[in-house]
Amino acid sequence: LTRDNSKLTDDLVKYKDYVFAKDLVNAEHIDSLQSFEIRDSDIFLVTYPKSGTIWAQQIITSICESEMGDIYPNNLEMMPWLEYIDKRPDYSLRPNPRLFASHLTPVLMPPGLRDKKMIYVMRNPKDNVTSYYHWCVNWAMFETPKIGASSWFDHIREWHSKRDQYNILFLTYEDMIMDLKTAVTKICRFLDRDLTEADINKIVEKATFKNMKNDRKANYEFIPEDILKKGQFLRKGKIGEWKNMFTVAQSERFDQVFEERMKDIRTLKFIWDVA
Ligand code: A3P
Repeated sequence: LTRDNSKLTDDLVKYKDYVFAKDLVNAEHIDSLQSFEIRDSDIFLVTYPKSGTIWAQQIITSICESEMGDIYPNNLEMMPWLEYIDKRPDYSLRPNPRLFASHLTPVLMPPGLRDKKMIYVMRNPKDNVTSYYHWCVNWAMFETPKIGASSWFDHIREWHSKRDQYNILFLTYEDMIMDLKTAVTKICRFLDRDLTEADINKIVEKATFKNMKNDRKANYEFIPEDILKKGQFLRKGKIGEWKNMFTVAQSERFDQVFEERMKDIRTLKFIWDVA
């Protein structure tokens, strides 16, 4: 990144209040997203990292599979991250429907996304940070984590506060853990995909943790092991893992910060409040 950036580590840089992995993005590309043309049929999945992105990706790619044909070797190519430049094809040449994942905040997203459909998945921040921690520790075997973001609080706040300007289906990781079939059905309805019960059951089956682990299109083991350790994406797949990580004092401190940072957006129901 070259403009208004500050170097954080050898691999991470800050640009427009967002931390990027240097070799996955560049400023020109991020700036160019401001004129990226969105089609009505595009489907966007937006998440904070480690919230269940590749899980929702498996569901959405399965829902659209019959329309897209068997032309992509894996979920990453079927639903690439909009912001990453690595092996980026010319998306304007892609047939409909085009699927994109992104971890970006609203200000960095193509303005044309407004009014268009996007799915936003979020996760109990304590589990989110636990998952992120393990991700970073595993990366550290090689170098610093190749993933960045804004703060979790800002990400949720910014997308939530823009909810009237976009057409967003908010889902939580916990929704998917507790009732995957209902979550899949909600996504189908939101995307106006009228699938049969049998199709939905098939998608649910494909999206279980166990089956995704064995699914070479979905388990990310197609990424060479010197870049991504096997099993790094599909690690535990559980809720409440934070209880093995946080001390009581850390948990209380987190609750306090959460309350302070999120008190004005309590209209958003956090399913983990009751857990
Ligand atoms: P854990 O590290 O807690 O296991 P992301 O895709 O945003 O990077 O999120 C990764 C997290 O989603 C990991 O959490 C991973 O195990 C979990 N995940 C991915 N697929 C899943 C599935 N089918 N069922 C449950 N959790 C899943």
